[in-house]
Amino acid sequence: MDKIVQKISTGLKGTITIPSDKSISHRAVMLSSIANGKSLIKNFSLGKDPISTLNIFKSLGINAEFLDSKTLEITSNGKLTTPQQNLDCGNSGTTMRLSTGILSAQPFNSVLFGDESLSKRPMKRIIEPLKLMGAEINSDNFKAPLYIKGSKLSGINYNLPISSAQVKSCILLAGLFADGKTTIHEPNQSRNHTELMLKYLGADISSDFNTIELYPSKLEAKNIEICGDISSAAYFITAALIVPNSDIIIKNVGLNPTRAGIIKVAKQMGANIEILNQEEISGELVGDIRVKYSELKGTEISGEIIPTLIDEIPVIAVLATQANGITTIKDAADLRNKESDRISAIVIELKKLGADIQETQDGFIVNGKRKLQGDAEINTYHDHRIAMSLYVAGLISEKPINIKEFEWVDISFPEFEELFQKLYC
Ligand code: S3P
Repeated sequence: MDKIVQKISTGLKGTITIPSDKSISHRAVMLSSIANGKSLIKNFSLGKDPISTLNIFKSLGINAEFLDSKTLEITSNGKLTTPQQNLDCGNSGTTMRLSTGILSAQPFNSVLFGDESLSKRPMKRIIEPLKLMGAEINSDNFKAPLYIKGSKLSGINYNLPISSAQVKSCILLAGLFADGKTTIHEPNQSRNHTELMLKYLGADISSDFNTIELYPSKLEAKNIEICGDISSAAYFITAALIVPNSDIIIKNVGLNPTRAGIIKVAKQMGANIEILNQEEISGELVGDIRVKYSELKGTEISGEIIPTLIDEIPVIAVLATQANGITTIKDAADLRNKESDRISAIVIELKKLGADIQETQDGFIVNGKRKLQGDAEINTYHDHRIAMSLYVAGLISEKPINIKEFEWVDISFPEFEELFQKLYC
């Protein structure tokens, strides 16, 4: 589906509620499925990726029912059963990597597969530590499909070579079923939703900055309320900062510090952002965000902040085109292993719009502020975050842009355009 995006002449105004966090939705299904009892998952994400996770756990014998459009009831005795078919992870790396941790420790065999993009993504990062725990996983050159032979696992003490919440969570989920303690050290702290939810559901887990310790644990089902996704809010935050005369409130956004790097960086760039009504819901920090159009300046984004904004980097590139001076992104080479090579994709497409942006091995350098010209045909690389980032660029482009295959936004955010339309005044 082609999407023509036009410059908006007035600012973005109004209040929106951002839909459910994708990362937390995956974990809510997985952990409720291996917990004993009934869980109500409130505000579940309707993105295609969390639905892939849901379908997989249904194939593993879990009883899951929608009570209304966003409330999911999961009933389990904590045990999964042999799937009758191979398990389809679709486009979702989180589904594949986290499920592999759980499935490696089950008393049955399973096969996980994914779409064309997921079949190219690196799985060595999870296969290696799981093998150290005693897992048996076969693949062609560490790529999906993954053939998992359920095994008895032992805890490990593991230094993560990269900061990755998917790898960390995969090992932790395997560690729940293993003999003995599992300890993980990560170079910089990545999102800690798995640790928080495990704790919330009664697991024996503790963490101290970059080190996490987990003992094998049984989980007790509990209701889980999922906050709005800051990665989805990032498109609205950026749009309000760069479209003149904007003033918006985004309600119910997850503000977990391991995810909220974009707010820190935007403030560093001079953004007028206010956090309102902070509270804790199901173990996660949540609040409302007020964002106004701002004069921005360039900055350097590198090191330990990178994992806290990893999915927001494409839209931060758009933000940087509207900041005075140089913005540099470094230490983000793993962006090349996402749903697309996000460094090269965003650089190529923003260049088409007239941005001054140079690709580097582990990021890019943007020289702003530049008027975006538009009048271009934009590719999404079958990547939802590239599609949404370029939509935001279209809102300030002098001439309309045509985004090809825009339907890829449905992977995480089917309500994306409808919510934007609420803010056009
Ligand atoms: C995710 C972790 C990140 C992120 C992905 C979701 C998660 O991936 O990019 O969109 O839910 O754990 P990595 O762990 O590969 O950095």
